[in-house]
Amino acid sequence: MKQSKQILKNTNAEILDEFNASIMFDKELYRQDIKGSIAHSKMLALQNIISNDEQLEIEKGLLQVLEEIEKGEFKFSLEFEDIHMAVESRLIEIIGDAGKRVHTARSRNDQVCTDFTLYVQEKSVSIKKQIKTLIETFVELANKHTDTLMPGMTHLQHAQPINFGFHMMAYANMFKRDFERFESSYERNNYSPLGSAALAGTPHNIDRFKTAELLGFSAPTQNAMDSVSNRDFALEILFNISTCMMHISRISEELILWSSYEFGFVKMSDMYATTSSIMPQKKNPDVPELLRGKTGRVYGNLISLLTVMKSLPLAYNKDTQEDKEGVFDSVSTIEISLSILNEVIKTMIINKERMFEACKIGHLTATDLADYLVLKQNIPFRTAYYITKEVVAFANSINKDISELNIDEIRKSSKDLENVNEDIVSYLNLENSMNSRNSFGGTSTKQTKLAIETFQNWLKNS
Ligand code: ARG
Repeated sequence: MKQSKQILKNTNAEILDEFNASIMFDKELYRQDIKGSIAHSKMLALQNIISNDEQLEIEKGLLQVLEEIEKGEFKFSLEFEDIHMAVESRLIEIIGDAGKRVHTARSRNDQVCTDFTLYVQEKSVSIKKQIKTLIETFVELANKHTDTLMPGMTHLQHAQPINFGFHMMAYANMFKRDFERFESSYERNNYSPLGSAALAGTPHNIDRFKTAELLGFSAPTQNAMDSVSNRDFALEILFNISTCMMHISRISEELILWSSYEFGFVKMSDMYATTSSIMPQKKNPDVPELLRGKTGRVYGNLISLLTVMKSLPLAYNKDTQEDKEGVFDSVSTIEISLSILNEVIKTMIINKERMFEACKIGHLTATDLADYLVLKQNIPFRTAYYITKEVVAFANSINKDISELNIDEIRKSSKDLENVNEDIVSYLNLENSMNSRNSFGGTSTKQTKLAIETFQNWLKNS
């Protein structure tokens, strides 16, 4: 009886330790934690708060801890609640008394913010690089297809002829905005919380500008209380990842559609499609489906942290320990998603013929016909619209697309066109139609090439 009570007690304590601790996941921050402590100790020595010898011992000890962790020799246990305590206690174990001075003029509250900010900043840079690689892939692909015709759609219905390069450049633009979002978040959040201490600063004569500089931040944060309770940097990366995943999901959706039998515009490499376990003839677009699906969990992580933060009184509250797992998950999700999407795009085969055939469905050049009548014959647009409807009906009656009509057929199609000039035929031509949209940002081959050039320059200089 006594014994079972004891077990129950232990179990409860264990459960509580586990509930309270973050070491199981914040060990991911070991590099940032050690980097932060080394910078902090250097500053303490420069300010004569600790001696130079003590600083050297601390730095050497911390580097040993780093090595132990990287070699897998470090024992992570629930005995130490988080990475900050785990590293500090091992440091004291290795170097003794000097190690007990490293926590002077700081608290875990500013330490966790510093470590996590460093992590988010590093990831913003590496994710940005991956996005740039993806943009390069889109631009390269676009460059090969500035005159590959395809139906441009609205409401997923054939609308007007565009070129495939133009479509790819739409994605290059989306991902460029993502790139810029990571970049501007980096600038906005590049401030060091270290030395804010628990919430109100410290009586020690520290130099927060020095630690900020040593850690690569532009400056220390302005207000200690805000610093220890702020998680905007984490929310920003979650939002930036969410928006980027939304873009990944949109291209994935198009890849799924385009690789279907009904479209047949692209063929994904066999590596990125899987077979069905029951239907031997099938090739499923599992990879883009997963990319589309994973967007959900990334949105979830953003909403979770927004919800965690919404009612927190100043300053630090333990609730914020819930900030990390979602960020780690979103980061690893976008990292793998970007690299896989890049390969999918690089290796897919474009079926130009199918795209061109699809342009001949839906009378894509109907607007061009109406515009011709307005421009060349001074016919009011609404009248031109109804004449065009007659031509479309005629084309349907002989099972042709209006882009395929010859001059005799056009003249036969409507009383108003009996004497129409022969040049009308060229206005119904699909390629001419695409190239006529030559306004800045339009689909013409010329504008698409200009856009590609602009992007190539941007890629070179960013
Ligand atoms: N483990 C905590 C976290 O992840 C940091 C430590 C601050 N904890 C505290 N009780 N003051 O947010």
